Amino acid sequence: MKLALIGYGKVARAFARLLEKKRASYPFRIVGAHTLRHGTAIDPKGLAADPVFGPPVASVEEFLDRTRAEVALELTTLNPESGEPAISHIRAAFARGQHVITSNKGPVAFAYAELRDEAARAGVMFRHEAAVMDGTPVFNLVRNNLPGVEIKGFAGALNSTSKVVVQSMLKGRSFEEGVEDARALGVAEADASFDTEGWDSAAKAAALANVLMDARLTPHAVDRRGIGRLTPERLALLKASGKTVVLVSRARRTPAGVKLRVRAEVLPADDLLAAMYGTSNLLILDTDLMGEIGVFTLQPGLKQTAYGLFSDLVDIARG
Ligand SMILES: NC(=O)c1ccc[n+]([C@@H]2O[C@H](COP(=O)([O-])OP(=O)(O)OC[C@H]3O[C@@H](n4cnc5c(N)ncnc54)[C@H](OP(=O)(O)O)[C@@H]3O)[C@@H](O)[C@H]2O)c1
Repeated sequence: MKLALIGYGKVARAFARLLEKKRASYPFRIVGAHTLRHGTAIDPKGLAADPVFGPPVASVEEFLDRTRAEVALELTTLNPESGEPAISHIRAAFARGQHVITSNKGPVAFAYAELRDEAARAGVMFRHEAAVMDGTPVFNLVRNNLPGVEIKGFAGALNSTSKVVVQSMLKGRSFEEGVEDARALGVAEADASFDTEGWDSAAKAAALANVLMDARLTPHAVDRRGIGRLTPERLALLKASGKTVVLVSRARRTPAGVKLRVRAEVLPADDLLAAMYGTSNLLILDTDLMGEIGVFTLQPGLKQTAYGLFSDLVDIARG
C-alpha cells in the first residue's frame, strides 16, 4: 500500500522508523512527504526514512494528486482554535478516494461527525487512534471489542504537563518550576497554559466524546477550569489529609445531550485517576453492558504514537 504523509515531524519520523522495522511482514511504502517549510519529497519507489526534500509543491491537493497514494496520513501541527487546515487536508484526501489516518486531534475534536460521514460517502476509512492517548487502543477497542455497548460517559487523566506540575508542587517546587520540569521532560506545549488551563484536556474530551458518544461538540463547549490557581501550600494541606489534585476530563450523557467538563479535581491520593505519573495516561469508560472498563499506558512516547498510526494502517489494509 502506498502512503502520502502530510507533515513530516517527530511523529512521522517515528512512524517511518516503525515501518522500516516491520517491512518484511508489512510492505507499506511511503511515496511522499509534504511539509510547511521543509519542502516536499516524492518517490513512487518509496522514500528513505530520512528523505531529501525538494521545493514544496503548490498545495496539499497537488501533493495528493502527484503521490497517488491509497492512504493519506495527516500529521501536521494541532490548531487548537479550529482544527484547520488539517480538516481541509483530510477532505482533500477523501475527495481523491484516499483513506485517512491522523494523529492530529484537531479534526476529531472540531469536525468528527462531518468527516466520518464524508468518508462513508467516499467509500474510504477515517482512523485516528493516535490522536488522544498516544496509540493506546481506545477507539479501536470500542469499535472492535465492545460491540453493542453504549458509552454513557468517561473519566480520564489525559494531560501530562498538569501531572508533572502537580507532582513537582507536591515536592515543594513552585508552579513555574513545575512547568519547567514538564518542559525538561519534553511534554509541555510551547505555551504551557494550553495544558495547565485545560485546553489540551478539553480537546481530548471533545475528540473522545465525538467518536464514542456522537456528541458533535467542539472544545469550546467544554466546561473547563485548569490547575492555574493551585499552590504548593494548598497541595501540602491536601496531601496531609490523604488527598491530591488531578486534571480530569469527564463526559456524561444527559437528557439534554452530552456534557463535557475539565476540572482540577480533589481526589483521594489512592484514586485510580491519581495513579498516573509523567506522560502516563488513563481513561475509564462507563458503559451500559460492561460497567466501567479502562485503559492506561505507562510513560508512552513517540513509539506508541507511531504504533497507533500503524494499528490503523493494518486495520485499513485488512479492509
Ligand atoms: N509528538 C507527540 O508525542 C504526539 C503524540 C500524539 C499526537 N501528536 C500530534 O501529531 C501531530 C504531529 O505531531 P509532531 O510532534 O510530529 O509535530 P511536529 O514535529 O511539529 O511536526 C509537524 C509537521 O507538520 C508540518 N506542517 C505543519 N503545518 C503544515 C501545513 N499547513 N501543511 C503541511 N505541513 C505542515 C510541519 O512542517 P515543517 O517541518 O516544515 O515545520 C512538520 O513537518 C500533531 O497534531 C500532534 O498534536 C503528537
